[in-house]
Amino acid sequence: MTQKKVSIKIGRKSSGYDIRIGNDLLAASGNWAVESLGRSSGKIAVISNKTVFAIYGTTVVKGLTKAGFETFVHLIGDGEKYKSFKTLEKTLAFLGENKISRTDAVLALGGGVVGDLAGFAASVYLRGIAFLQVPTTLLSMIDSSVGGKTGINTSFGKNLVGSFYQPNGVLIDAAVLATLPRRELTAGFCEAIKQGAISGKKLLEQTGSILEELDNNSIAKKLADGHFTAEFEQLLAAQVRFKALIVAGDERESAAKTDAKSRKILNFGHTFAHAIEKITNYHYFKHGEAVGYGIIFAAELSKKLELMPLDGVNLLNDVVRRAGSLPAIGHIDPSEVLEAFKYDKKNIGNSLQWVLLKGIGKPVIVSQNDIPGSALRSVLQSIIRH
Ligand code: NAD
Ligand code: GLY
Repeated sequence: MTQKKVSIKIGRKSSGYDIRIGNDLLAASGNWAVESLGRSSGKIAVISNKTVFAIYGTTVVKGLTKAGFETFVHLIGDGEKYKSFKTLEKTLAFLGENKISRTDAVLALGGGVVGDLAGFAASVYLRGIAFLQVPTTLLSMIDSSVGGKTGINTSFGKNLVGSFYQPNGVLIDAAVLATLPRRELTAGFCEAIKQGAISGKKLLEQTGSILEELDNNSIAKKLADGHFTAEFEQLLAAQVRFKALIVAGDERESAAKTDAKSRKILNFGHTFAHAIEKITNYHYFKHGEAVGYGIIFAAELSKKLELMPLDGVNLLNDVVRRAGSLPAIGHIDPSEVLEAFKYDKKNIGNSLQWVLLKGIGKPVIVSQNDIPGSALRSVLQSIIRH
């Protein structure tokens, strides 16, 4: 059993917290919880969903119980629609009914949906109790479990109610990816490519080379190979380190910050992604798949505006292709995409803020007012046609 540790200093916990990364770590979740919480007793409310809990729940609960914790399990529905006020209310009621107190903790076992909802519940229940994250999708390992954004979707938009709430500890066990459906893995890799694109060639190439090794093999098979696993854990650690670095400098995504290290740059690829998700009613694409197209769109737009040379665009196209096949996009109406841009939450002072690239690892925020409509339309036509 190998392990890596990324220590993070962000937000309200001045002592910071650790993200543990390794393979087959779930059975030792009890010891990790003791270290993260600084105690070996009390209650832990495990929030998960049926799909994930059926595979990994028993191992985690056994580990926690063995370490001295009293566990309580609450399962939410599986899917984005359960990241809702209704689920939050039921989750808070569960915590209250089981007399979870200020010295107890919530543990999220699942992907980004479970993590965002459980983290938000932990942040508002009794005005905030300890929170542990065990992310089980690639996206939640490298993105949503790092940085403290928690929240739910609303009738007026996605992720519009929430909090910034850093966890007490995160446990990333790569072995759980063996059961992750292939499309979810591709979606997670697209977010990893996004982080590589804005971080620099090193992280992008590291991500690309894992994808090359993975090729068309199942990750379950590859994770049985010690060499691949070691490289994959290094990639997870590098991805987490990069995201933590950005978040540490701009935890609350300050509206005034627009430099290359502002948290906004993590939205690279997201303007186009949000638009195509919205016009397909959030049912057609996995979020990360839409980000895959968003990366290509932002890269092409950067080239069109003569910000980034062709080799950067080619590299990004190549790595996104290696991530796996994306759902076809040819049926999408470009005029609907242009209309959907207007509703993006990155609108500041009525102008949409695009994250573009001056090169790999050189993000720049550009106001839509500075982008000719003809450039947007021409890139849109070429992406949708191909
Ligand atoms: P998800 O949580 O819906 O999980 C995807 C699917 O995989 C689900 O059906 C889930 O049950 C299943 N699953 C999870 N782990 C599994 C495993 N190991 N084996 C088998 N099946 C497994 O999706 P996601 O992509 O993890 O997260 C998406 C959510 O994350 C969105 O709500 C998005 O808004 C949010 N998000 C938040 C942040 C943040 O900073 N907080 C960042 C990015 C995304
Ligand atoms: N996923 C974007 C952020 O955490 O800011």
